[in-house]
Amino acid sequence: MTSHETREPLIAPSILAADFARLAEEADAVKGADWLHVDVMDAHFVPNLTIGLPVVQSLGQATDIPMDCHLMIEDPDRWAPGYAEAGAHNVTFHVEAAADAVGLARTLRAAGSLAGLAVDRDTPLDPYLDVLPEFDTLLIMTIKAGFGGQAFIPELLDKVRLARRHLRAGHLQLFVEVDGGIDDDTIVEAAQAGADVFVAGTAVYGADDPGRAVQALRARAAAASFAGP
Ligand code: DX5
Ligand code: ZN
Repeated sequence: MTSHETREPLIAPSILAADFARLAEEADAVKGADWLHVDVMDAHFVPNLTIGLPVVQSLGQATDIPMDCHLMIEDPDRWAPGYAEAGAHNVTFHVEAAADAVGLARTLRAAGSLAGLAVDRDTPLDPYLDVLPEFDTLLIMTIKAGFGGQAFIPELLDKVRLARRHLRAGHLQLFVEVDGGIDDDTIVEAAQAGADVFVAGTAVYGADDPGRAVQALRARAAAASFAGP
């Protein structure tokens, strides 16, 4: 595989749809997952409020699945490094909230995590293409950030296509992650557009067997060939 191609699909179940009173067991229920997606919301950047650093620290002790922290918070410049120090595999912050996105990406990498940049529904990607070499992950929201269980917005895959074209042209290797409304059908569209990391909350934890749901999603994504630029 050359550097501009998509990698094997990674499935990241979102614990936002899990039972917060049983997080360790809920992580265990998706043992075959590639990343465990942790939605941190502060009731300011988004209206909703979820969990923060103490829970992430505890969860990291309770699971071997690499944690993918998605920070939907204001002032990530101040708060995001703590998640890297807590052992998160990837720390993604929103470009709309960061004062110094490049500086923060460098701090996260220095603290030992991957650095992720998230773009919300109404944010164009074009102005940020130039900073992508500073990042390991680009998270493209396929809903408006803030709540699980929303309907997938297919038009937002245009940003995935743009990202994939840009990465190919620049021989850049970055994870292109999609988040919001991913299920057995929409994962195929997203994979064809060029995504290679797939967050799924409802589709995993709403299933009778979350572990099997992860396997099924991965198989669907793997079977969908990237349609090209
Ligand atoms: C919402 C979160 C998502 C959410 C996705 O802002 O970023 O990760 O958990 O949930 P589903 O898969 O149910 O759309
Ligand atoms: Zn998320």
